[in-house]
Amino acid sequence: MKNPRADVWHRQPAEVERQLKAAVAEENVITLAGGVPADELFPAAELDEAMAAVMRDEGAAALQYGWPEGHDKLREHISAWLSECGVPVSPDAILVTAGAQQGLHLLARLLLAEGGPLAVETPTYAAALQAFDLRRPAWRPVPRTAQGLDLDALQDAFARGGARLLYLVATGHNPTGGVLTARERNAVLSLAERYDAWVIDDDAYGCIHYGARPAPLRSLGRHLDRVIHLGSFSKVLAPGLRIGFIAGPPALIREATFLKQAHDLETATLTQRVLARWLDLHPLMQHIRRCVTVYQTRRDVLVDAIHAAFPRTTPDCATWESPEGGFSLLLRLPGRLDARALLPSAVQAGMAYEPAEPYFVDAGEPSAVRLSFSNVDEYGIRAAVHRLTSAIEAALGPLRTDLPVP
Ligand SMILES: Cc1ncc(COP(=O)(O)O)c(C=O)c1O
Repeated sequence: MKNPRADVWHRQPAEVERQLKAAVAEENVITLAGGVPADELFPAAELDEAMAAVMRDEGAAALQYGWPEGHDKLREHISAWLSECGVPVSPDAILVTAGAQQGLHLLARLLLAEGGPLAVETPTYAAALQAFDLRRPAWRPVPRTAQGLDLDALQDAFARGGARLLYLVATGHNPTGGVLTARERNAVLSLAERYDAWVIDDDAYGCIHYGARPAPLRSLGRHLDRVIHLGSFSKVLAPGLRIGFIAGPPALIREATFLKQAHDLETATLTQRVLARWLDLHPLMQHIRRCVTVYQTRRDVLVDAIHAAFPRTTPDCATWESPEGGFSLLLRLPGRLDARALLPSAVQAGMAYEPAEPYFVDAGEPSAVRLSFSNVDEYGIRAAVHRLTSAIEAALGPLRTDLPVP
């Protein structure tokens, strides 16, 4: 089987990174480029109090080394949170990591042989692809849209492609915002069972959904010796804490703990204890519900603005789907415009987006852009879409909005 894009690292070219960094620093540029939580939703004062309490009551222990598996109190909190999400996991079967990103890195090392076949959605979270890039995998792409997952391609990835590991973002898919249905989740598990494949269920956005509550794969109670739940406090609380976790089969968690110890000994003791303190006093799910209300409104505003700006009437019109979870929407630019080439004009017009090419492991889509609505207020979102439209019109001529929607 052909190995698509084997030698491509899934990152922006240096020039695009430079443009994005400069755009984010520019006060007049509205950035829809980073999939980050809203600054104003961080419970900064509460975390400040938690930090003061930790320093007062736990002093030396908080500044001392801890254990590679993580702070026990925090593991108990994570276990309680997971059981609220329908995933029963004992604290012993949880490894605290430096963000979900470290979990991905550890799992790539443990579950994927150098050059081995790996089933991944395409598009998918680019930094996960970077973690897997280190193993130079033979990619087995499984197309994913906000509409769902191509289950025939998944079957093919296992059957013909020989993959025995699948990386999946079932809820709040990054970059499309898709949420897999219960039927799709069960179908994924049936295929994984049939081929005895490992599944990494990246649930970093698991609580950020705009419809009925989706069931994490481990909550379905099937194939438990092969399904790994990857979680994070980054999207629901604060990424600056750098705290994520892996929950799964105890033997795998033990291996991952040894590997983590070799990497960095442990996740920072101080932030683990601050987080545990905050969780002692504040109901996490209540905080998340408050945040989701804000994100849902922003999602609605972005979708409305895009609907108004881009008529879906010609063969080469813009296409997009409304996100059901997560922080971002994938837009294909009209006229098959090249997203990287258009970026300087968009920044000039006062907005920034992320060209989505690094999210693909198959042929790639030069005209795809990721728009993140999470950290911009409603006025900013509307203004950013308006500015994007003017950059596109400068390249293509006026977009017709007078034609009937087919
Ligand atoms: C799907 C997905 N998984 C994992 C991560 C990494 O999160 P963390 O900050 O916990 O390392 C991200 C961050 O953007 C993400 O989008």
